[in-house]
Amino acid sequence: MKETLILLYGGRSAEREVSVLTAESVMRAVDYNRFTVKTYFISREGAFYKTQEFDQTPDVTVRLMTNDGIADLESLNPGAIYEEGAVIFPLLHGPMGEDGTIQGFFEILGMPYVGTGVLASSMAMDKISTKRILESAGISQVPYTTYFEGENLAAALDEAEAKLSYPIFVKPSNMGSSVGISKAENRAGLQEAILEALRYDSRILIEQGVDAREIEVAILGNQDIQTTLPGEVVKDVAFYDYKAKYIDNKIEMAIPAQIPDSVANEMREAARKAFHALGGTGLSRCDFFYTKEGDVFLNELNTMPGFTQWSMYPLLWKNMGLSYPDLISTLVDLAKEVYEKRQAHFF
Ligand SMILES: Nc1ncnc2c1ncn2[C@@H]1O[C@H](COP(=O)(O)OP(=O)(O)O)[C@@H](O)[C@H]1O
Ligand SMILES: [Mg+2]
Repeated sequence: MKETLILLYGGRSAEREVSVLTAESVMRAVDYNRFTVKTYFISREGAFYKTQEFDQTPDVTVRLMTNDGIADLESLNPGAIYEEGAVIFPLLHGPMGEDGTIQGFFEILGMPYVGTGVLASSMAMDKISTKRILESAGISQVPYTTYFEGENLAAALDEAEAKLSYPIFVKPSNMGSSVGISKAENRAGLQEAILEALRYDSRILIEQGVDAREIEVAILGNQDIQTTLPGEVVKDVAFYDYKAKYIDNKIEMAIPAQIPDSVANEMREAARKAFHALGGTGLSRCDFFYTKEGDVFLNELNTMPGFTQWSMYPLLWKNMGLSYPDLISTLVDLAKEVYEKRQAHFF
């Protein structure tokens, strides 16, 4: 008997289109000797639709159904995705996808699912909560202050100017995909940036701007946390003769990143520690800033990183010798392990 893998895609966040590409990438790579794939589309409005099923690798021309395709379909009660023994792979990004909300729904359904649980998902999605966790775990990060709606704004500007220097980044705590983020060069700009960010969230992160390379480490595992050699998100396309260069959504990646071994090791250790402190399970991509001065700052953990075949996370694993199809199978195994452990707590 084959196992059922349920792919959930679409969703309510700004990243819903990427989500469709990701699900198509996964459905083509799945090991069909092991799995039958069932897919469900979540519309922008949050309605669930049962879409295609695959018992073998679909033809490259096959696209998953989205808004047009579902026009004649009835939406489902979300609970109808339940299937005994099946594992859910939520290929959803951003709010309602990787912020713990849908993970809570899977818990209530009583189904195993790929990735981090409710608490780790919601904490990693929330930039201020992430900062607090990193602080308590002693992990190096850029200095910051906060502003919560209703607090004295002038006092917040004073505090930011006392602790940080321009440029300063201002971010809604809980959005993702760079929504509402801006860079301020002076006090007037800082105030404006805070007001802009307040359109998206009532809690605002105010952060020291750094001039840094952006380096990422992939994390895989439950208790036994594995990490990859880092990769770099290349901003300056001019300077390259790296071993491998990939392009995903116009982002260029260099894998492995050309950085000293000691820095790579420092990042891998920080990534592992952060994932552990968060109580992470399954996967995450851990993003760092690496400055000219040699400082390493952990920026964030993405609990549902880009996951197409050409995204950083799967490519980092490929560089370590773990293929995309095997990565998917491993994630399912990890999901089952977490589920079985949790089940054992109920009696
Ligand atoms: N403190 C900072 N200094 C310099 N650049 C930053 C800083 N914070 C964010 N950035 C830039 O903005 C991008 C998006 O910020 P990030 O915190 O990763 O939010 P998200 O990925 O959730 O949108 C980063 O990848 C980086 O290019
Ligand atoms: Mg980011």
